[in-house]
Amino acid sequence: MATTEDMRNLQEEFKMQNKSVFILGASGETGRVLLKEILNWQLFSKVTLIGRRKLNFEEEAYKNVNQEVVDFEKLDEHSSAFQGYDVGFCCLGTTKAKAGSEGFVRVDRDYVLKSAELAKAGGCKHFNLLSSKGANKMSSFLYLQVKGEVEAKIEELNFDRYTIFRPAVLLCDRQESRPGEWLARKFLSSIPNVLADGYSVPVPTVVRAMLNNLVLKSDKKMELLENKAIHNLGKTDPIAQS
Ligand SMILES: NC(=O)c1ccc[n+]([C@@H]2O[C@H](COP(=O)([O-])OP(=O)(O)OC[C@H]3O[C@@H](n4cnc5c(N)ncnc54)[C@H](OP(=O)(O)O)[C@@H]3O)[C@@H](O)[C@H]2O)c1
Repeated sequence: MATTEDMRNLQEEFKMQNKSVFILGASGETGRVLLKEILNWQLFSKVTLIGRRKLNFEEEAYKNVNQEVVDFEKLDEHSSAFQGYDVGFCCLGTTKAKAGSEGFVRVDRDYVLKSAELAKAGGCKHFNLLSSKGANKMSSFLYLQVKGEVEAKIEELNFDRYTIFRPAVLLCDRQESRPGEWLARKFLSSIPNVLADGYSVPVPTVVRAMLNNLVLKSDKKMELLENKAIHNLGKTDPIAQS
């Protein structure tokens, strides 16, 4: 297992490569922390957000962030937005409660898959997908089935490197009301940490796992990080400890 010192060296090596990255879903709970940490870690020479609306940032650290506003219903018309990135992160998603079943499938499967296709066509080498614990294309639960289906379809695109993250319940202070998630968090906060870790993961841990994994070299074409692996990889914080 890599030490914090190793991770710091790998991080420095990664920075030297002047890579570019796009993030889908940077206004969401995970995407916003991912963007903040990408800027904090200074890993990329170019950072672009691809989303349905322009986001406003006050802080100086965000001043060089590029934004591409796209119509996800007409993604083919926005292929240039996906052109020329080394790395892509997809943290896009909605819920059945918010968008209905059809809307959920449209976003979590169709928008995600089309974005991945355009990214691949645009030259993206490493695609990172935020999926979910239990994702399974054979599942009888729509949520898990869609997550499993999109995971598998993106694998067929044959990226040089493809990483799937499968977190359990994301722990965050969500501004939007989601009663199911709220109840799950309430329950998880009442049981011992060691048990709760199996059913949940804090968003900052997921983000650290994404970035630590990014700088680690891999000879695998496809990597699948389940919740436990996310906890393990997300423990190391080369920035806070530097
Ligand atoms: N919540 C959990 O406990 C949990 C657990 C495991 C996995 N996941 C998965 O992890 C991923 C990220 O979750 P999260 O909670 O961080 O996400 P989130 O806060 O719900 O943010 C979702 C992102 O997707 C965008 N989006 C939603 N509907 C869209 C639409 N119709 N068109 C274009 N963009 C749209 C949002 O943009 P706007 O800001 O413009 O709406 C936002 O940037 C999701 O795929 C989710 O299924 C979640």
